[in-house]
Amino acid sequence: MRSRPSECITSSNRSRIRACRTPPLVHLQHRDPTDNVREPYDKASTAPLSKLHALTIMAAEQQTMNFYMNVGPMYMEPIARQLYQEIGLVEEEHVTHYESLVDPGESWWERLVNHEYNECYLYYSFMQTETDPRVKGIWELHLNMELEHLRLACDLMRRHDDRDPESVLAPALPEPVTFEPNKQLVRELLGTQIDWATLGTGYVQDMHERFERMQDKINAERPPQERVIDEHRDKFGDEYRLATDGPHPVERLRDKPRT
Ligand SMILES: [Fe+2]
Ligand SMILES: [Fe+2]
Repeated sequence: MRSRPSECITSSNRSRIRACRTPPLVHLQHRDPTDNVREPYDKASTAPLSKLHALTIMAAEQQTMNFYMNVGPMYMEPIARQLYQEIGLVEEEHVTHYESLVDPGESWWERLVNHEYNECYLYYSFMQTETDPRVKGIWELHLNMELEHLRLACDLMRRHDDRDPESVLAPALPEPVTFEPNKQLVRELLGTQIDWATLGTGYVQDMHERFERMQDKINAERPPQERVIDEHRDKFGDEYRLATDGPHPVERLRDKPRT
């Protein structure tokens, strides 16, 4: 992906930003690791459901990272291996980002209990919202297994932490997670928040020096993600993308066909 050039970004003057018509290549990935760590939630005051969400998004990123890192080396074409390695690195950044949301002051036993509780919560959600009775049965089977994990984890916490798991868990299962269409939400976020970056644990709209230093270093050679698109454009005339809900909300990031 490309972003606007740094001289445009560092300007807080919107009209000047819009005046930058043909930006040189500036990538949105990768961040310096220092800027990937967020402020953790406070385990004492955070709603149990928020803790579950932090674990779920961390697990999703972990799975994505594992996929790209494990599958990438199986490709024969060097460009495919390089691309997967690059995406795997981005996913590692996401894992760090979300993992750092979890309060580092939680004990190992507390974490185990939260983890098992979250597994119960997710399988319970799938079971409750599944319409195919055969698939529903699979979710129920997994929920039952996770309930036993949770029971064992709670025993361990009582024994080794000398605390009641009830003191950290939600008093009742929250409303089930549901699968909803989210393309409009993502489009809105792209349209309004794409210029935000992180600086330490805060957020800024300026591409700061540390960000640019990292960009220069890691993208010193044209990165695989751009070379793949170059090749696709050369062979098929345009970029590789499926725009089901209209063109990209940010004009400068729209398809750039071969000229
Ligand atoms: Fe990710
Ligand atoms: Fe489990």
